[in-house]
Amino acid sequence: MKVPILNLKRLHNSIKDEIYEAFDDVFSEQHFILGKQVKQLEERVSSYIGTKYAIGVASGTDALLLALKASSYEIYGREHFKSEDEIITTPFTFVATADTILLSGATPVFIDIDPYTYNISPENIGEYLSNNSSKVKAIIPVHLYGQACNMDEIMQTTKQFGVYVIEDVAQAFGGKWKNKKLGNFGIAGCLSFFPTKGLGGFGDGGMIVTNDKTIAEIVDMLRKHGGKDKYNVNILGHNSRLDALQASILLQKLKHVDRWNENKRKIAEVYNTELSGINDIILPVRHNSLPITPVYHQYTIRTKKRDKLQSYLKEKEIQTMVYYPISLHKQKLFEERTKIFGSLKNAELAVKGVLSLPIDPLQTEKETTYIVNMIKEFFV
Ligand SMILES: Cc1ncc(COP(=O)(O)O)c(C=O)c1O
Repeated sequence: MKVPILNLKRLHNSIKDEIYEAFDDVFSEQHFILGKQVKQLEERVSSYIGTKYAIGVASGTDALLLALKASSYEIYGREHFKSEDEIITTPFTFVATADTILLSGATPVFIDIDPYTYNISPENIGEYLSNNSSKVKAIIPVHLYGQACNMDEIMQTTKQFGVYVIEDVAQAFGGKWKNKKLGNFGIAGCLSFFPTKGLGGFGDGGMIVTNDKTIAEIVDMLRKHGGKDKYNVNILGHNSRLDALQASILLQKLKHVDRWNENKRKIAEVYNTELSGINDIILPVRHNSLPITPVYHQYTIRTKKRDKLQSYLKEKEIQTMVYYPISLHKQKLFEERTKIFGSLKNAELAVKGVLSLPIDPLQTEKETTYIVNMIKEFFV
């Protein structure tokens, strides 16, 4: 049996008639850039997440960059930070979380993660802010692998110091902290519609969700060169628009996303039961021990025998991935341009041990059993 980490072809085949119909509408209208499907998607996503506004952009990376720039505009009245301005984030994430901080003009400050949730540690944030609050303008918590950060603690700490929270929701579409959807806690939530994401398009795409009118207005300007009017610009903007074809696909997929996430939670429960207590495997934090509704963008285990296990599973035609093999603070770009607070030992530990197993909304019982059996066989 051959099991990819995510079977996008199978997912597509299950809904392809709906997708082709939606495409057809866009082709007939020939309004590809910011067409009516983009507006519809913005309305549906904002009502799904519970925010007042949603603005479609060209990628998750641009969602972060434009949210940062709009925050700078709100703070300073200009669309870029100064290099003395600091933005806190985690070093254990995809590069876009932190390179957008540099692109917005500010300096990233890396703070260590919790060793079990792999998310930024709220205690460390509090500690850093108590001595550096005047420099810090924002924090970007990342809901890694589809598991929520502790938003109670993050919101409480940042409120005390007047720091903006920009949530990186790229991996957690539909996830919740308590009863609230992720993306609805901070000044802005940044979504990615990269094809492998929980709500994925057929190319790049992203969205910013917010309850803040100014942020929504500035992002709307920033995505189209910086003007309210096309030929009369106010600020330095980008060409970062979501297109109608992507929006038409995403509108169809949005109808299925809750069912897909529920399926993934069921597969995760099987892994949780079957892999519990095997050798040194550390399982993802159980959602019954935290007030979260995870979406399992990844199902990630940790073991000291990671590399050997990965090779063994590869021999058995089971695809696994290491997210992430190098912590950002060890990468050349960031080494030279960022600040590190304290030790990043948990991020370094995670890099050495994490392994993401296949988890797919339509993964069959047979596939999950095969994966579990091969992992058990490796550890015998
Ligand atoms: C945590 C995180 N942030 C940001 C991004 C950037 O999203 P995109 O690839 O849509 O630009 C990604 C996606 O790859 C991600 O996983």
